[in-house]
Amino acid sequence: MKITKTSILAASALAISVTAGVVWAQDSADAAMDDRELLTTVSDHWRIHLLHDMREGLFVQVQEILAANAAGDMATVEALATERGKAHFAHMDPAMMAELPAQMKGMGKAMHLAFDDVATAARETGDPAAVSGAVSDLMMACTACHLTYKLNP
Ligand code: HEC
Repeated sequence: MKITKTSILAASALAISVTAGVVWAQDSADAAMDDRELLTTVSDHWRIHLLHDMREGLFVQVQEILAANAAGDMATVEALATERGKAHFAHMDPAMMAELPAQMKGMGKAMHLAFDDVATAARETGDPAAVSGAVSDLMMACTACHLTYKLNP
């Protein structure tokens, strides 16, 4: 083929549209992978606080509960789970709660009540299998919220 100005322009236009198509396909694949709602009403202060509590509070505490359960130490399971149960409501700052959507608060409440169920399973059954089941239910409350919301864009 003879290289003319027209053929160069046509080749460039084709290259641009192919690239645009690839970028578009990638963007829509990315969007399909993450359809969580971004929490835009949460200030930096409470976002940092919430992420810190998830990372160094909740996540660690669930692991400690599992370790105590594996060791058959029901008293520790009960104590750790009770701390994060209804008892935790008293530690929640109203200023933070005011920035969270009602549905998210409902999911948070369900999680705290599920911690109490872990404590109850430890106290009333003393059975590691029953406690594992209650921890699994608790973790459904974690994942339900994680599948719905995000704090980081
Ligand atoms: C009511 C909602 C909600 C519940 C319940 C919840 N989380 Fe989260 N969690 C979030 C949100 C929102 C983020 C931020 C995710 C993002 O922006 O990518 C998060 C982030 C995290 C992170 C990452 C923190 C970081 O530094 O990025 C961890 C770890 C975590 N959660 C653990 C847990 C565990 C364990 C539970 C259950 C025991 C739990 N969460 C329950 C809403 C929740």
